[in-house]
Amino acid sequence: MAKRLEGKVAIVTGAGRGIGAAHAMALAMHGAKVVVNDPGVNRDGTGSSNVADDTVAAIKKAGGVAVANYDSVATTEGGEAIIKCAVEKLGGIHILVNNAGFLRDKTCWTMTPEEFDLVVKVHLYGHFNTIRAAAPIMRQQRWGRIINTSSEAGAIGNFGQINYSAAKEGIVGLTRVVGRELGKYGVTCNAIRPQAATRMTMTEDVLSNIANMMGLKDAKEAEKAFIAMSAPEHISPILIFLCSEEAANVNARVFNVGGGKFGLYNEPEVIASVEKAGQVWDAEELIKEMVAKVTGNLKNVSPVQPPK
Ligand SMILES: NC(=O)c1ccc[n+]([C@@H]2O[C@H](COP(=O)([O-])OP(=O)(O)OC[C@H]3O[C@@H](n4cnc5c(N)ncnc54)[C@H](O)[C@@H]3O)[C@@H](O)[C@H]2O)c1
Repeated sequence: MAKRLEGKVAIVTGAGRGIGAAHAMALAMHGAKVVVNDPGVNRDGTGSSNVADDTVAAIKKAGGVAVANYDSVATTEGGEAIIKCAVEKLGGIHILVNNAGFLRDKTCWTMTPEEFDLVVKVHLYGHFNTIRAAAPIMRQQRWGRIINTSSEAGAIGNFGQINYSAAKEGIVGLTRVVGRELGKYGVTCNAIRPQAATRMTMTEDVLSNIANMMGLKDAKEAEKAFIAMSAPEHISPILIFLCSEEAANVNARVFNVGGGKFGLYNEPEVIASVEKAGQVWDAEELIKEMVAKVTGNLKNVSPVQPPK
């Protein structure tokens, strides 16, 4: 049987390790030629290394075709260079997987503007920069698949991650727009909120929680258990589905993926309201009506606590 992605060229950003490396391998094993993009930065975005070469070597060893690229997704020039690499070295661009990113966690009162900016640049701009460069080609050839990477962080409001959550929810909005703009040209754009055991998630706190929850001896055992339950390889099959013709109708959607589960999110909708069409409400009246009909049963997600 022919491989599903034979003849296709794919880019995976941040594919030197973690989820991106698993994505690149999966696409290559289904026949796509893959640009493995990654400047190999540390968990906080500093430094550089040649992890992209490691993924390329693994793909070649497994019989696939891949080239490395070390540009940053965080700049306009970087985004353009990544797409150019696919076109010049592999002959085109059909599948774009935006996955790259790093963290700078702080609360809203301790985060510096620079820390906020860096994370928005790598995640939200990182998606815009590559999509902007790939879209004219995909539109012209009337086929393309764009898979973006959001996170549960913004959906649940993860403490200490305003920059990351803002960027990741921005990616959801961007996905809805790009899907609508490019859909008529045979290009789909969807997003995933993945969960996997990588250096991003295997922090001391997480491992010690897992150890406690599962009654394990230490962090080493917790790490093994976490990887067994939620390896990055658990995420990547969704790419093959979203690239398939069976998913041509799946556009501007968001999926929850991890640990063997693939779920479709609903789209936001108004769940309760009061209305006086075309009239300006008196504020006192609105307060009464809101409490009575819309917000009265809500619980504060972070109730007031006595000062320490
Ligand atoms: N691991 C999870 O459970 C989880 C949960 C939600 C979202 N995500 C998202 O999934 C994606 C992959 O995360 P991961 O867990 O594999 O993390 P990871 O740290 O293992 O991998 C991220 C990769 O992105 C690369 N990268 C960083 N800055 C880059 C830049 N400017 N240009 C190109 N590449 C760059 C890094 O070098 C790294 O190899 C990220 O977008 C992350 O936010 C992960």
